[in-house]
Amino acid sequence: MQRRRLMQWGAALALSPWMIRSARADTAQAAHGAELAGASMPGAQALGMPSGGALPEGLRLPLERKDGVWQGCLTAAPLNLPLLPGGKPTAFWAYNDSVPGPAIELFEGETLALRFENRLPQPTTVHWHGLPIPADQDGNPHDAVQPGQAREYRFTLPPGSAGTYWYHPHPHGHTAEQVYRGLAGVFVVKSRSDPLAHLPERWLVLSDLKLDGDGQIAANSEADRMDGREGQFVLVNGAWQPRMTLGMGERQRWRVWNATSARVLKLALPAHEVWLVGTDGGLIERPRRMEYVLLPPGARVELAVTGRFAPGRPSGLLALPYARGKMMGPEQDKALPLLGIEAGAAVATAALPRRLGRVAALPKPAVRRRVAFSEDMANPAAMFLINGQTFDMDRVDFIGKVGQVEEWEIDNQADMDHPFHLHGTQFQVTERHDGKGWKKEPYLAWRDVVNVPPEQKVRLRFRQELPGPRMFHCHILEHEDAGMMGVLDVRA
Ligand code: C2O
Ligand code: CU
Ligand code: CU
Repeated sequence: MQRRRLMQWGAALALSPWMIRSARADTAQAAHGAELAGASMPGAQALGMPSGGALPEGLRLPLERKDGVWQGCLTAAPLNLPLLPGGKPTAFWAYNDSVPGPAIELFEGETLALRFENRLPQPTTVHWHGLPIPADQDGNPHDAVQPGQAREYRFTLPPGSAGTYWYHPHPHGHTAEQVYRGLAGVFVVKSRSDPLAHLPERWLVLSDLKLDGDGQIAANSEADRMDGREGQFVLVNGAWQPRMTLGMGERQRWRVWNATSARVLKLALPAHEVWLVGTDGGLIERPRRMEYVLLPPGARVELAVTGRFAPGRPSGLLALPYARGKMMGPEQDKALPLLGIEAGAAVATAALPRRLGRVAALPKPAVRRRVAFSEDMANPAAMFLINGQTFDMDRVDFIGKVGQVEEWEIDNQADMDHPFHLHGTQFQVTERHDGKGWKKEPYLAWRDVVNVPPEQKVRLRFRQELPGPRMFHCHILEHEDAGMMGVLDVRA
């Protein structure tokens, strides 16, 4: 039963009986090689992970409408999958026995009431990443659900919130582990007046899987805790290098999530025509032609992708090389093939409207604040800092006001990229400083994550419409757990 449900999402898991077949014999050698390379994990080859299955489609969370409210159940629980024939099953943690978790899709204005049950051996919360919902429903680390306990998450999706979101645990100090063990799912808010409703949709959830030589989910190494965890496998909807078909000339709307702990994904489709149409919090004003899209951990994009299949150009989805200033592990110096794309029959290309939505520029701020990221490698107890401090659940870092426009300058004084994330609202990046000078952001967009490379700065504006404590943090989950997080308390 558990098996069957998983297969609907994860071909990686469906394929997994063989994925570790050759692991045993190669482990000793691979582990040795990996040690020399400074990482303690066997290579993908050594593990014998099969690739190339069909792109899995998402499993939806069953919801039932009662008295105008969508009701459903979400359970976080261990899930043992027999990956190795005759071997010990692999222990995942999953929402409703599915990796990734079941997808939730609702319209603006609708209300969700979800009964959540924690069957994990540790406290957890469910955080609704990016959604403008009340703070006490947003899975703050302060509101942990203890093992064996349940609670209801209930919220209404306000008008204008159509966009591409996700949900994941956010307990104090254990977010990274709970996510890399398999807890994360996607949440899409639709609009009744959607200029792209005519395009067929594809949802691509990019995640990272790191296995040890026994086919178990590996614990974090020291390098993972410093750099942020990277595994051997970047998965797409739970499958490794799956394949899909795209018609010649066919235009599709893709939603792409970076649900990895730490990878900055420089996504490219070299053969095809790609337009950026939306960011984390919804559509941008006009499509923008893209050569690649930089997607930091936690961020999402909407793309209009048209199948062109240029001869001599790779037809699949790639993550191009990107150096993010890692301290211990090697940088990504090769393009990673993420998804294979085969040419289908010719299809008439659907129109791409010139105007998509309206993103009204936020007015002049009433408050300005500075958020400086820094690293202190000499202090293992407090390595990743915001304004010189590590996270304290009982401390309020900033006091804000409902409805007031704030402008924050995120200043990365550290050596690695740190993707900034804020809860409870979407922001607009206004300017970026590349180390030489300030540059005005070329277009308006709603975001809740922005990557800040070392020695660079970003200015952004936002308004919180609801009161309560809101986290802001680096979305490299190991850095967040290590304390690179603060609290903005929004008061009425
Ligand atoms: Cu996606 Cu505070 O998190
Ligand atoms: Cu969040
Ligand atoms: Cu960081």
